[in-house]
Amino acid sequence: MNRILIGAQWGDEGKGKIIDLLAEKCDIVVRFQGGNNAGHTVRIGDRKFVLHLIPSGILHDERVCVIGNGAVVNPRAFFEEIEMLRRNGISVKDRLFISSQAHLIFPYHTLIDGLKEDTGKRSTKIGTTKKGIGPCYADKAARLGIRVADLGTPAYFRERLKSVFEEKNQVLQKIYGHPGLSFSKIYEEYQSYGPRLKPFVKDTTLYLYEAARKKKKILFEGAQGTLLDVDHGTYPYVTSSNASVGGAMSGSGVSPALIDRITGVVKAYTTRVGEGPFPTQFPPALMTAIQNKGEEFGSTTGRPRRCGWFDAVIGRYSARINGLDDLAVMKLDVLSGLQKIKIGTAYRRRGKIYRDYPAETSVLEECAPIYEEHPGWDEDLSGIRRWKDLPRNAKRYLKRLEELLETPIQIVSVGSERQQTIFL
Ligand code: IMP
Repeated sequence: MNRILIGAQWGDEGKGKIIDLLAEKCDIVVRFQGGNNAGHTVRIGDRKFVLHLIPSGILHDERVCVIGNGAVVNPRAFFEEIEMLRRNGISVKDRLFISSQAHLIFPYHTLIDGLKEDTGKRSTKIGTTKKGIGPCYADKAARLGIRVADLGTPAYFRERLKSVFEEKNQVLQKIYGHPGLSFSKIYEEYQSYGPRLKPFVKDTTLYLYEAARKKKKILFEGAQGTLLDVDHGTYPYVTSSNASVGGAMSGSGVSPALIDRITGVVKAYTTRVGEGPFPTQFPPALMTAIQNKGEEFGSTTGRPRRCGWFDAVIGRYSARINGLDDLAVMKLDVLSGLQKIKIGTAYRRRGKIYRDYPAETSVLEECAPIYEEHPGWDEDLSGIRRWKDLPRNAKRYLKRLEELLETPIQIVSVGSERQQTIFL
């Protein structure tokens, strides 16, 4: 079975844990968008791994992992992650491949990303991870990007970098008052990545096609989430790639005809990092309590995540945009101890009721949620492994989420460990 796993909220839903579990039943795991802005956390016993660019499936010995053409690759971050895995006894030899068509993140991308955010020039503040993701995708669309394959032809690479570089230094100097970067330093650094990356580089679209023909099972690992998708998210407060289901196809070169199942991952509540509208955001005291209990601090930047009630409007929207077949609901245990649990089922704005997600961010910014209230439960859920052992009110809450999203729940997570999982 070939399955796509998508974040159905604003990212940080807990995809790392689900990928790790599903990777047991597949042969190949593919990252298809984003770069080292992601932070997929997997806990195995007392060891905690945070993967930013390399697919989480790498933690399973026999799995092959692919970074597809739709991803953006910072070679320095890539080799640091390989080194982290090596220190933990995990070898990537002959089972990690990068698409020759993936675009490279350069130091000017990261620098401009940070300067844009910090100086507030040329854009509204997005609250990015400052990993150079937006500027790299912007260059890709403007046809100024440099791809992994280009490193294999040094003369071509040099010429291309040279032509792009002049423009980047002009932007740095004239707009941001930065002294500019040294061409030769960057050229030499990236030139040296060519031979080091070579063993990993492949025509991954062909590799995946042939693997699918041999009935290998492929798992597509989405990063970020649907509401951060550059087309379908809360633009401009989004990332710069397609984090919803379409990105899995364009970012891997695999046909949708080969996909059997699409799974959406949601938290039992909602979180968001960075700027942008968030209608169901908690009041401050509850926010602090859930941040601490749910360890809601970014795994890439350490920033506290904003937390709120489950928003069924965006949930339904995600189910529609992605065509979700089923759901994994994460962190249900964090809600234990709350007397009442709310679900946002619609929005109200200037006397009008919105049951569907309004695509205009200016409208969403003015929307107030309409809530329904459910009785909570006190029991600690972390030791529960079967649906029938969940407290009655927890089961009712989950059933209501299924009803509102018109999507069945297949997995419920009650803790960060692999075994703290209920399969339905
Ligand atoms: P960028 O992807 O670094 O450009 O950041 C754009 C927006 O996406 C910001 O609001 C980030 O906080 C958010 N974002 C990027 N990656 C992640 C992620 O892995 N989890 C949650 N939010 C993310």
